[in-house]
Amino acid sequence: MNMMREIVSTEYEDLKSIYLNAAYFGPSPKRCRRYVEKSLRHELDPSYSPYDEWYYRPEKSRKQFAELLGVSAEDIFHACSVSDINNLIIHALSPTTQHVTVIEKDYPSNVLPFMLAQERQNSVTLSRLNLNGEILPTASWLEKNLPKETTIFCCSWVTFDTGKKVDILEIGKFLKSRNITFIVDVTQGLGGLAITSEELSYISAISCASYKWMLGPYGHAFGYLSPELQKKLKHPNANWLTSKNSKIVTSLLEYTTDTLPGVRSFDRGQTANLLTLGCLEGALEFLLELGLKNIQTYNKNLSSFFYENYSTKKYDLITPIENSGNIVCLKGKNIDSLQLEKDLRDQDIDVSIREGNIRISFHVYNERNHVEHLLKILDSQ
Ligand SMILES: Cc1ncc(COP(=O)(O)O)c(C=O)c1O
Repeated sequence: MNMMREIVSTEYEDLKSIYLNAAYFGPSPKRCRRYVEKSLRHELDPSYSPYDEWYYRPEKSRKQFAELLGVSAEDIFHACSVSDINNLIIHALSPTTQHVTVIEKDYPSNVLPFMLAQERQNSVTLSRLNLNGEILPTASWLEKNLPKETTIFCCSWVTFDTGKKVDILEIGKFLKSRNITFIVDVTQGLGGLAITSEELSYISAISCASYKWMLGPYGHAFGYLSPELQKKLKHPNANWLTSKNSKIVTSLLEYTTDTLPGVRSFDRGQTANLLTLGCLEGALEFLLELGLKNIQTYNKNLSSFFYENYSTKKYDLITPIENSGNIVCLKGKNIDSLQLEKDLRDQDIDVSIREGNIRISFHVYNERNHVEHLLKILDSQ
């Protein structure tokens, strides 16, 4: 554990604040600068740059993502955003009739792609389920409320505004028993939390923005498609980089729509965007070095310490402790949230305040004394 703290403190010694805001932007470890600088040298002077050197670059982070999840790199693709991933999946599935069900008030990336598909394609319909006071969708709740015709269910693992975490195993088992495609947006969890191989076995597709808990750059997301789902999908976009004949620069004009193996056919265009990938590779290397399970345990200790010590007289907890990840949301009882925001800022604490609620994100670069400092300011309101 000490070695872990040593690595972390070197990587984050330059952070200007007590940063408790990974749910907004995750800070990248310092080593990313080295990788980005290498990419920048290429951008500033691409003289004599061999084709192979940039063309294969996306393979590095593809493998790193796969290692973090414990899956094959053949099942991972590069994307720009969670929205893009959901757009891709619905287009890849919608030649056959699809009924998508989502949760009302989920992040727009998990709703809008399906709304547009419903507007544009006769083959797609959408239901937005209102939780009506229920904390989270559970298997028994879905059994009662999920429209019978549902073929796809999509939701966030951890909700962005309340920090509530769905039980993937429980609802995944239910959805699998109904043969329903289960798409999970893990953006607000993965990196600060680990996903188990058992959980993964019930998931059809994962989407994840890389710039939050994964500590990567803005402008990148990755997708995972289970081997079972892959059999049902046909990639909707042609892209010369993922064409089979792109590997050798002299065969580019032998046009073919055959693609590279695995799910590379789903990769974003200009996949080898070197500046972004440089930052991403540094972040993933750091997460792999520490191990997601170790990070999860460390983060859990921080949030438990917070839960044990925050003032219940002054704040209501919005996040249910038993269904939580690393995001903690609170509401002040009689507290001026503008004043609170100012006091936190004056004390170098960076959190999100949304409509009077405080959203706190505990991640691996935080220390126990950060939580103590936060508790003190919260208590002084
Ligand atoms: C749950 C969740 N999903 C996705 C995103 C980002 O969406 P996108 O990658 O479509 O920009 C966010 C951003 O806050 C989020 O909280």
